[in-house]
Formats: sequence, C-alpha cells, structure tokens
Amino acid sequence: MKINIQKNKQLVKSVFVTIVGIGASLVAAAQQKQPAYLDVRKPVEERVENALSLMTTEEKVSLCYAQSKFSSKGVARLGIPEVWMDDGPHGIREEALWDEWSGANWTSDSCTAFPALTCLAASFNPQLSLLYGKSIGEEARYRNKTVLLGPGVNIYRTPLNGRNFEYMGEDPYLSSRMVVPYIQGVQSEGVAACVKHFALNNQEEWRGHINVNVSDRALYEIYLPAFKAAVQEGKAWSIMGSYNQFRGEHCCHNDLLLNQILKGDWKFDGVVISDWGGVHNTDQAVRNGLDLEMGTYTNGLTTKGNFPYSEYYLANPFLKGIKDGKYDLALLNDKARRILRLIFRTTMSVDRPFGRFVSPEHSEAARKIAQEGIVLLKNEKQFFPVPVGQFKKIAVIGENASRSLVIGGGSSSLKAAYEQSPLEGLIAKYGKDHIIYSLGYASGPSLYGREEPSKLNADSLMAAAIETARNADIVFFIGGLNKNHFQDCEGGDRQSLSLPFGQDKLIDALLKVNKNTAVVLLSGNAVSMPWINKVPAIMQGWYLGSEAGNALADVISGDVNPSGKLPFSFPKKLEDNAAHSYGKISYPGDSVNQYYKEDILVGYRWFDTKKITPQYAFGHGLSYTSFDLGTLTADKSVYSKEDVIKVKFTLKNTGSRSGAEVAQLYVQDPVCTVSRPVKELKAFEKVFLQPGETKTVEMNLKVADFAFYDEHKKDWNIEAGDFILQLGNSSDHISQKLKITIR
Ligand code: GLC
Repeated sequence: MKINIQKNKQLVKSVFVTIVGIGASLVAAAQQKQPAYLDVRKPVEERVENALSLMTTEEKVSLCYAQSKFSSKGVARLGIPEVWMDDGPHGIREEALWDEWSGANWTSDSCTAFPALTCLAASFNPQLSLLYGKSIGEEARYRNKTVLLGPGVNIYRTPLNGRNFEYMGEDPYLSSRMVVPYIQGVQSEGVAACVKHFALNNQEEWRGHINVNVSDRALYEIYLPAFKAAVQEGKAWSIMGSYNQFRGEHCCHNDLLLNQILKGDWKFDGVVISDWGGVHNTDQAVRNGLDLEMGTYTNGLTTKGNFPYSEYYLANPFLKGIKDGKYDLALLNDKARRILRLIFRTTMSVDRPFGRFVSPEHSEAARKIAQEGIVLLKNEKQFFPVPVGQFKKIAVIGENASRSLVIGGGSSSLKAAYEQSPLEGLIAKYGKDHIIYSLGYASGPSLYGREEPSKLNADSLMAAAIETARNADIVFFIGGLNKNHFQDCEGGDRQSLSLPFGQDKLIDALLKVNKNTAVVLLSGNAVSMPWINKVPAIMQGWYLGSEAGNALADVISGDVNPSGKLPFSFPKKLEDNAAHSYGKISYPGDSVNQYYKEDILVGYRWFDTKKITPQYAFGHGLSYTSFDLGTLTADKSVYSKEDVIKVKFTLKNTGSRSGAEVAQLYVQDPVCTVSRPVKELKAFEKVFLQPGETKTVEMNLKVADFAFYDEHKKDWNIEAGDFILQLGNSSDHISQKLKITIR
C-alpha cells in the first residue's frame, strides 16, 4: 500500500499546529489566572504593587517583625516566602534553634571561614572585596538565606572597641571603596547584604543605650560615608539599625538617620532591619523609618516568653494603631513594600543563582584575601622571609599558633568546615621535623560575656617556651588577641591597649635567650608593643579564617610577598589616641551620654594634625621588594569645583622580586574658614609589578570630593584656593607633594 506521504504530512502538521494552539491558550489562560506578582518576567515594582494589593492589613503587619530568631514571615496564603537571615560578615553562621542564640547542631552547616574584614580592608584591593562578597554570597545562597547580616563598616575610633575586627578601619574613604564591591558580590548571588550598624556604633561598652553626640561635620565626613557608598553605589538591599542612641533617639528608629538621611537624602529603597532587641518604642518604630523588627524572647511556637513576637513594637501594637486610625496605612504600606521588594530581589527573583558551599574556590579566595591582608610592620636585616630549608630548628611559640580563631567574637563566630592553624600551616610548609611548638601562654576557654582564666600554670608554660626558644635557630612568636571576652569580642570592649595573658613578659623572656625572635600578631585591633625595639621583625596577621595556616606560612616563607597596609593606626600608648584624649566623656562616655570630642580628627587625621607620632601609621606596610614612586603630575594647575583632576605618576619595582605596592593619594586644604585635617585619603591603587617593572598610574579625583561638610549651609562646601596633593605609600610616608588651585 503506497502511503500518501504528502497527505500524511499535512495531517501531522495540522495536528501539530492544533496542539501548539491549545498549549498556547492554556499557558495564556494560566497566565491570565496567575497574578502579576508571580509572573517572574514582570518588573519587580509591578510585582510588589500587585502583591501589596492582594494582602490584608494583618498580612502586611506580619511582615514587619520576627517570627523566630533569624526569620520573619512571608505571606503563606500567597506563596510569598519567609525572610531568612544569618550572620555574619566573615562566613555563614551555623543554624540556630528557633528561638535561641545557641546552635541547632545541624551537620550540614559548617562553612568556609573567610578572613575578618579588617584583613580585607588591609588588602587595599577592591577586586578582592568583590571576590569576597561573591564567595560568601554563594555560601549564603546555598544555605538558602535571604539576607546576610553584614558587612560592618563602623569607623575604628578607639582601639578598645570589641568589634573593630568586623569592620574596615579608621578611614571613611577606604571603608567606602572596600564595602561597595563586597555588597555587589553578595547581592550578585541573590542574597541581600545588610550593612551594619547604622550608625555611630563605635564601641561595645553600653552599646544598648549610650547616647552618642557628635558634630554634623564628623557625622557626615567620618561616620556616614561608608554607609552612603554602601547604599548609593553598592545598592544595598538592607541596612541594620544600631543599638545605641544618636542625639536622644535609638538608631533603630531615628528620624534624622533613617527618614531624613537614609531614605530621604540617599533615596534608600531597601529594608531597615533592627539590631536584635534594638527597638524600644512603637510610635518611633512606626514613624522613624524602621521596617523590620528582629529580636527574640519566645519559643516562637507559642506566646510563651516574656516578650512574645506578637507583642513586638511593630506587631500587635502597630496593628492596633492602624485599626484605631493612629497610624496612616501609608506608613504600613511603605514598610511592607520595602520587605516585598527585598523578597522579589532575592528568593522570588527569576535569575537567582544557586550558590555553592565550602568549595575549593572559596578556600582559594579565603587564602588569597588572607595573604594580601597580612601586613609586614617591621623587618630588620631582612628577617623575613624565612625560606624553607634555611633553618633546621624553628620554634613556634604562642597560643594563637594553635588556638581556633574562627570561633568567638560574638555573632560573627563560625562553625567552620575546617580551620588550618598557623602551626599546621608552618608544619606543612617547613616539615614537622623542623618545627618545635610550645604553647607559651594560655588564655582559657572561649566564652561569651565573661572570661575564665586558664587552669594551666603560666610559669611552667613560660619556662618550657624559653627552653624551646633557647634551643632553636629562629623563633616565631604567634600571639595577639583571641576574640574572647575583652579580647576583640562583641558585647564588651578591651580593657587596655596591652597584649593579654602575660605575652609582653614572655616576648621579653624569649628575646633574652634568642634574639632571632619575630612577633606575629593575630588580632583585630592595635596593641602596645613595649618590646618593639628588641624585636627584629613584626607581622600583623588578622583573624585569617579557614586558610590562616597556609596564608601565614606563604608569607613567612616568602612564597608570597606581603602587600597589606594598615587600615588603622597603631598608637604608642592609648592616651595618644584621639578618642582617649578628652577624658571619659569622650570614651566610653558617662554611661548615659558620650561626646566624640575629637570630632573629625579620627585616626591618622589626629596623629598628623596634632603631630603625634604613632607606633605604626595608617597605610603602613612593608614588602620583600622595594618600590619607587615617580614624579606626581596633574593635567592642569587650576580647576573649577566641577572638574575632575587627572593625576599621573610612575611606580617602579626596584627590587629583585615581584610584589605589590599601594599608592595612596592624600589631600590637604591648608587655608579654609574651618579647621581641616592636614591630610585626608582621597584615592589609592594597588599595583602589582615584576622586578624592574615600571607602570604609569593614573588617578581621577573629583574636586567635589575635597569638600567639607558646612554646618551653616547644612551641605557640602568647598572654598576656592590652593590644595596640596600628597602621594605616598603610607600616611606617614609622603614622597611627593603637588599644589593645585581651585577657583
Ligand atoms: C547582634 C549583633 C548584630 C548581629 C545580630 C544577629 O546583636 O549586633 O551584628 O547581626 O545581633 O546576630
């Protein structure tokens, strides 16, 4: 039978067309039935408005407060997911119990511990910040988090602040340049960054209530810029209000900070999340810009507990206020709209990536950030690097060589998938036959909110360490702070600038029996160095995370050339520091009020303007090679206030090995109707060079960025006149000055 192929072809085609037609109409019908908020192809704002229009008042209010320790409600009826948050800036915190700070003991939540943000800041490398944000964002995404509770960018005002290790140093420009890529990286993974703690949370002492008073100039020139950059350039999707008060209002519901500056001037369209338990007042929470109240105190499943979620300030009291007509529905809609927007930007986003967790790439990123953040402070007679094979017997002494430093510190504490200690890294690098370890000192268990001395005998630990040092060719003392209470930890400040646990005495004792003793400090804050003139070499490591051992051994051995620069100044003594120069009312305050009397002179601004020599300056960091900064030139000599100044200079690696230098450009406005610092960082660039290589570096400086905040005009202002551009590789090592004029 000859099959009429032609006829059949037409039949098949018409059947196919019919099926497609039915399918298309089914899809269209389905889409017609599907509300806009579920249509992933529609713009976010359209989806937000549609969802809002379908929600009840009760549902809108239910978005605005916690349902558990780290989550808040979605709208189950509409299929809008809950918001899951998690700390912290250095890695994804382990799962907590529904309503407790303590861990839930899951077995699938051990993360990559990235270096602390002081280390990232010390790299002076915004590209690494992007890598950091993307890597931690992938881990947050994989753990199905909507919001990562970080990064922190509170300015380093005092070396006693317990949480400086979580932040990016003393300079607003450095913090601004480094926080933006971190946020972009996190949010590229479909997770909202939550920049914290907004604002003026610069100490832990009385953090829950201290009322900070600071001038408008210091507020706008020092304490706000990093948050402004985070919002306007980083496009942060959320921000966390801080616990303290500012000019009499708690920062979690502060009209000036949240309504006027953040949402008004800066046009922030994200969610203001309170710090946990940072809300104190329904009326202010409703009217002063708070969107989402977090905290705890109940088991979340019943109303048991002394402050059930349903009674949170933005919960039933808010709902009652709406129903009683006390609060305009517009106030509620704005909060709900912002929270929906965050959800549509993250969990309900059509192109949300899938993340990854504890990947080899994240380990590489952690190691690279750690390597580039380590700062070589002192290196007499080329003590470092210590090449493998140079010495037979290397003594490693100090508790920080073996103690876990990814735990502790408060909410940024991590359950890491692994943590290679400095001792393990050094053994891997030099071979176990060449490393002799001695604890040297002991600090006691890692506790929160209190300290417990070690039960070990300090004298016998020291005696053993001395013997180890005596019999070694070279000694690496590895100490510092350890994120225990009072030692770089949330909830309490340090009690002094000194190294704790008898380390100073131990260092002196080691030097007596072996002058070839270097000091490696692992900390998030400056410490005093009474032994500084006796020690040939000092290295500032940070809390380096899972790859601490490898990174430190890479730099110590010379496999990696250190290129970190200090993101904050090391004072010789505490009284040299600005915040400690005006009595207790300046730090820590009188338990009610605090006045930042140093005003805009924070960090190197203080040391340089007051001509106080720091132990080590902001921007300082040595290399195993040497560099030469060439002549600084500018494209013109006279500029208008709207101009961009194009400067140029060469940078040459004059040494015998590759390395990276951070060229730093500071600006001075020597004649002005207000007092100004003798220098302020306005540009920097990290340049990698092969031995003998020269690169021409170009920097563009907006004249507008030289402005000061004019308290009379209540706006930024720049006065015509001469300005001095200062190029150097540290704030206290300026090699070139160039005068330009602004008309
Ligand atoms: C803490 C911290 C904050 C953290 C939050 C959740 O009190 O201040 O940084 O993200 O609570 O743990």
